[in-house]
Amino acid sequence: MAIQKVGVVGCGLMGSGIAQVCAQSGFTTVVREVGPELVDKGLRGIEKNLARSVEKGTLNEAQRSEIRRRLTGTTALEDLKDCDLVAEAIVEQLPAKRELFAKLDSICPSSTIFASNTSSLTITEISTSTKRPDRFVGLHFFNPVPVMKLVEVVRTIATDEKVYEEMVAFGAKLGKTPVRAHDSTGFIVNRLLVPYLLDAIRAYENGLGTLEDIDKGMKLGCGYPMGPFTLLDFVGLDTTYYIANIMFEEFREPAYAPPPLLKRMVLAGRLGKKSGQGFYKY
Ligand SMILES: NC(=O)c1ccc[n+]([C@@H]2O[C@H](COP(=O)([O-])OP(=O)(O)OC[C@H]3O[C@@H](n4cnc5c(N)ncnc54)[C@H](O)[C@@H]3O)[C@@H](O)[C@H]2O)c1
Repeated sequence: MAIQKVGVVGCGLMGSGIAQVCAQSGFTTVVREVGPELVDKGLRGIEKNLARSVEKGTLNEAQRSEIRRRLTGTTALEDLKDCDLVAEAIVEQLPAKRELFAKLDSICPSSTIFASNTSSLTITEISTSTKRPDRFVGLHFFNPVPVMKLVEVVRTIATDEKVYEEMVAFGAKLGKTPVRAHDSTGFIVNRLLVPYLLDAIRAYENGLGTLEDIDKGMKLGCGYPMGPFTLLDFVGLDTTYYIANIMFEEFREPAYAPPPLLKRMVLAGRLGKKSGQGFYKY
């Protein structure tokens, strides 16, 4: 079955990027948020990105309006009923994701493929809220989605082989490089990245250096495109906190335990770039 229409649930940092890339790659795309102001905010962000691409000359005006025409926003989950694929990018909380997919399962035909962009939950535990674990995969994109080239395509023991291969091909159609990953918490990238980010916070708590110096050290000493605190602010400290808790719960290893400073920053509403302040001010 060829994918023609894609539903995206959540239009935050990741959902807006996924919706943009789907529409940009020729798919009719409908993105769902919980309230009209969040739909508007997400779509405005996408429009800003597209305008920047036109300024840079990587898109022309005709392409921009074509992409915008393919993309609609909604607050009604029912508007996703005729989608061939639904990609979820809502908060990193298991009960919220399970509740969402249980509803989608009753709205969408049995042919619709479901995908989650979860960073740290297992696809298995999300997919069992539906009657279609065989048509359920992980499509784990990276932030910012329009820029980052990778997508981890995740299969569970229940995922149908054809569905999986179709999703690997879909990732390539979005212009991404798909890598195949097993359904293990954190998949490939976050399994290695999250302990590093949490260690950076612990190093800062222990007075190893200033935020700026730790960032400079890792950027210039390791050739990383940005230091750990810049990256943490970019990912979102709330999202990182959820991810760390889930990974710690799974592995019970101190490397995944969220440092107290991370918790305090989330409690204080310093969520990173998206809230105007995280480790740095924006
Ligand atoms: N931030 C990252 O760098 C990153 C990278 C890869 C994967 N992820 C994963 O992507 C998912 C989303 O993360 P994010 O950073 O975009 O978070 P975010 O906080 O920016 O956005 C989440 C959005 O989901 C919306 N939402 C919540 N419940 C909803 C529902 N039932 N229907 C529709 N919308 C709903 C919220 O209103 C919010 O706008 C998480 O699972 C996260 O782990 C995040």
